[in-house]
Amino acid sequence: MKAVARALILYLIIAKLPIIALPAPPHDEIERKIDALLKQMTLEEKLGQLQLFDGPNDDNYNERIEMIRKGLVGGFMNVLGARRVNELQRIAVEQSRLKIPLLFGFDVIHGYRTIFPVPLGEASSWDPATVERTTSVAAAEARAAGINWVFAPMVDITRDARWGRIVEGAGEDPYLGAEMARARVRGFQGTDYSAPDRVLACAKHFVAYGAAEAGRDYNTTDLSEWTLRQIYLPPFKAAVEAGVGTLMSAFNDLNGVPASANPFTLTRVLRGEWKFDGFVVSDYTAVPELIAHGLAANEAEAVYYALGAGLDMEMVSHLFSTHGPRLIKDGKLTMEQIDEAVRRILRIKFRLGLFDRPYVDEARERTLILNPEHVKVAREAAARSMVLLKNENNLLPLSKELKSIAVIGPLADDRNAPLGPWHAAGRPEDVVTLLAGVRAKVGPKTKVMYAKGCEIEGGSTKGFGEAVRLAQQADVVILAVGESAEMSGEAASRTSLDLPGHQLELIKAIHATGKPIIVVLMNGRPLTIGWVAENVPAILETWFAGIQAGHAIADVLFGDVNPGGKLPVTFPRTVGQVPLYYNHKNTGRPPQEDNKYTSKYLDAQWTPLFPFGFGLSYTQFRLTNLQLSATRIRRDENLTVTAEVENIGQRPGDEVVQLYIRDVAASVTRPVRELKGFRRLTLQPGEKRTVRFTLGPEQLGFYDRQMRFVVEPGEFKVYVGNSSVGGLEAGFEVAD
Ligand code: GLC
Repeated sequence: MKAVARALILYLIIAKLPIIALPAPPHDEIERKIDALLKQMTLEEKLGQLQLFDGPNDDNYNERIEMIRKGLVGGFMNVLGARRVNELQRIAVEQSRLKIPLLFGFDVIHGYRTIFPVPLGEASSWDPATVERTTSVAAAEARAAGINWVFAPMVDITRDARWGRIVEGAGEDPYLGAEMARARVRGFQGTDYSAPDRVLACAKHFVAYGAAEAGRDYNTTDLSEWTLRQIYLPPFKAAVEAGVGTLMSAFNDLNGVPASANPFTLTRVLRGEWKFDGFVVSDYTAVPELIAHGLAANEAEAVYYALGAGLDMEMVSHLFSTHGPRLIKDGKLTMEQIDEAVRRILRIKFRLGLFDRPYVDEARERTLILNPEHVKVAREAAARSMVLLKNENNLLPLSKELKSIAVIGPLADDRNAPLGPWHAAGRPEDVVTLLAGVRAKVGPKTKVMYAKGCEIEGGSTKGFGEAVRLAQQADVVILAVGESAEMSGEAASRTSLDLPGHQLELIKAIHATGKPIIVVLMNGRPLTIGWVAENVPAILETWFAGIQAGHAIADVLFGDVNPGGKLPVTFPRTVGQVPLYYNHKNTGRPPQEDNKYTSKYLDAQWTPLFPFGFGLSYTQFRLTNLQLSATRIRRDENLTVTAEVENIGQRPGDEVVQLYIRDVAASVTRPVRELKGFRRLTLQPGEKRTVRFTLGPEQLGFYDRQMRFVVEPGEFKVYVGNSSVGGLEAGFEVAD
């Protein structure tokens, strides 16, 4: 069979026909093969499968090659290039005793070489189909380059913009986060990740890493089981339901038991409740860090706690292989525990097709990477991820016949920031900057001037003079400000959410010229831009929009694309409000302007600057005719919710219709709103569409005091709107 399969594939490659991936062998055949391998493996070889090393480099190359030859490596990370991967894979598959192939992992967070908007940007599209499309491109490029495992999607919920890794996820909401997690797993893995254009995905960081106290990366997380189940676990559950093959355990101490050695999450929830049969890899050196946490007294104890809790593979450090034999000998760990971890890893390697097709077709890399179709996807996805926050007097879209435009700011011609903090194999030279995008968009009659004005942070205000001078000559000013890519992502927490450096002063200096200004934000987190929101007529949130940032921003600014994105995170007025999120509890004293003794501040408004779900368009939409299929349902019944959305403006546009509920009274207090559905729709001027949602036990249920997922009788409210504020309202009752 194998020879025939190989011959068929060879023929298809030569015939240049699209390669039809042979499906991975059926489930029970894989288990039989694993049983047979386990019987042959020594303890050393078993522990070797639990080992993920950083790519071999100069000072350990020969040692790593020898370990592959001895069958003592489960996989490598950060090895790029089909040829290089095939070299190492050949040693494992042709020279080791049991010929077990290697995994090759890499952080492909939002693109491999074709870099898309950062995940927080893509979440702003509220368009799972687009996210699945960009992720599919990322998978195809990565697999062609030899990567068969990506350390993505990052599905951490967070409510704290100080935490730099907010940029890597889908924001503050578990429903939106779950939808984006499903889309990414589908995009990476497809229906069979043994295919040559798919990769094994890894939902991370399991779990509640985004709840780090004070927004400080790697800090303690301490939260109730209720909050864990209601807010932080759902996107991981969605990824597991979507078939994700691996998870990555997080760095954080979770309620006193670090996530990389937490039996409640790694075994009781993940295996016991969700029946997950893939494997869990630790985050980078998270196993030895159990000592620093104060859980393990020494390395051997770290192995005892991690493996004992259900962790399967160790990233970079090698305590499992060092201390495993002794722990087995002393009866602290059982061979069954080791075998179960090995089984999970081998199961995934079989599903990846590595035993049948271990090598990469090196020709694909040359034709696939950064091809024009991928670049086109990047431009479209970037435009769909942008959020129009303000557009006073319809300053936008701009005319392409303007006489002169001043493009100003430290991010206006920056090639690094649009790649974001996890840019994989992305290269600055691939990036189209905002300045380049504007220049390409307008005709020869339009004069485009440029001044940096100041640095993103630090530096001086010496460049203000030139910037102001150009602004005074221009019909309109496009002002690109925000953060550097290094100010978000891992180990990038900030105590301030203000625009760094002298950027706000620059905006004020340009504002003083009286010229119309459009502020273009490039940032990895919500920013406290109160003065800008108050005084600047137009603001476009572009996040870090990837290699086609410049063209996509110009598409939006000049109206070739009507922005339709919505915020997946709340923008606070001040960092003092953080954590601030829309699905908050009502409290016993909800804020009232005219009542001192209610939940609010003396020195700032308690409301957000821009709410979750908010985003404007160049056209206007009207929502009417909210209808419920019943005013009373049983707990196990579904309710249909419909509303009509109409484009009452002059140009086509996208609206994201959002469905929220409120369970007014329950045995556990419930949030004032919870997102339970959304649709991004394109409507022509004058077009009216009916949007339909279903509310059933899955949407109406919640975890009660005994952590049972239940629907309780009582009054519910339904809101259908274009953000988490306002909208059409109706009510219904769940009968006992
Ligand atoms: C890092 C990150 C994780 C990443 C891993 C491998 O520390 O926490 O997201 O996938 O190490 O680079």
